[in-house]
Amino acid sequence: MDIKAYLKQQAEFINKKIQEYIPLGTPEKLFEAMAYSLNAGGKRLRPVLILESAKAAGKEDINDIADIAVAAEFVHTYSLIHDDLPAMDDDDLRRGKPTCHKVFGEAIAILAGDGLQSYAFELISQNKSVPPEKLVKVINLLAHGTGIYGMVGGQAADILHEKENAFDDIQFIHTHKTAKFIQSCCQIGAVLADATAKEEEALKNYGLYIGLAFQIWDDVLDEIGDEKKLGKKTRKDREKNKLTYPALYGIEKSKKIAKDYIEKAIEEIKILKSPEILQEIAKYIISREV
Ligand code: IPE
Ligand code: IPE
Ligand code: MG
Ligand code: MG
Ligand code: MG
Repeated sequence: MDIKAYLKQQAEFINKKIQEYIPLGTPEKLFEAMAYSLNAGGKRLRPVLILESAKAAGKEDINDIADIAVAAEFVHTYSLIHDDLPAMDDDDLRRGKPTCHKVFGEAIAILAGDGLQSYAFELISQNKSVPPEKLVKVINLLAHGTGIYGMVGGQAADILHEKENAFDDIQFIHTHKTAKFIQSCCQIGAVLADATAKEEEALKNYGLYIGLAFQIWDDVLDEIGDEKKLGKKTRKDREKNKLTYPALYGIEKSKKIAKDYIEKAIEEIKILKSPEILQEIAKYIISREV
């Protein structure tokens, strides 16, 4: 199968759903800033992983959970807006466009990120098709994967290393800042599909492995990727003293480590009803140029 074409089509589905759920309100600047970053583009990998994990575990109709997938993209977009702020990575370019704070100013960019995050949970809590006890599980997984025990914790560790050399555990940084969110998306898919404990465990492990490979590949692309294609500045990690795989192991060894994670991920989900698309997504993660 042509996984790139398939993912493009799935991203378009998510884009349509984003338009359906995008919040409107006052002050307009705040809502414009949220929409600006959401609509700038992006691979939509996290929402797609929610839907594909659910499908792989046997869920046939995904229309009733599209809002949950959109909510994950809201959280991801918030994380990018904040990641780019001058106090963090200080980036001017994201998804091929000037970063949110460059267009709307720092204060509104911070608030746009805050707004996207809390609205994501508001959106999930309003879903009318999924039973409330399952929605609570979904909210718990997303909050855990992206909060202090997940992405926020990892981002703090990343910054502590960059600014003060005060943190030096790359496995902690990669697991927390990136893999735990991706892992939570795969687990959310499992919960929404009423997966068995064994299936959920497989998706949880798959999510961790592809998440780790995803961040290693992001670090590799920062070194050898094409700025135009990526839509973000390259060779920034080196300049900013980031703790990355290429910095520690070089490009070739980093690629090999990422490949090993992908092989483990593929193996892990063999027990699912239809693992093929997720297995293709895993391979795509370490072949992508974007
Ligand atoms: C970038 O995520 C941030 C990382 C965790 C490496 P993506 O590479 O998924 O960014 P978009 O959503 O496609 O722009
Ligand atoms: C970002 O890692 C992780 C996030 C949680 C947003 P990076 O700082 O390497 O992501 P990019 O390269 O700016 O997209
Ligand atoms: Mg960063
Ligand atoms: Mg960054
Ligand atoms: Mg990066």
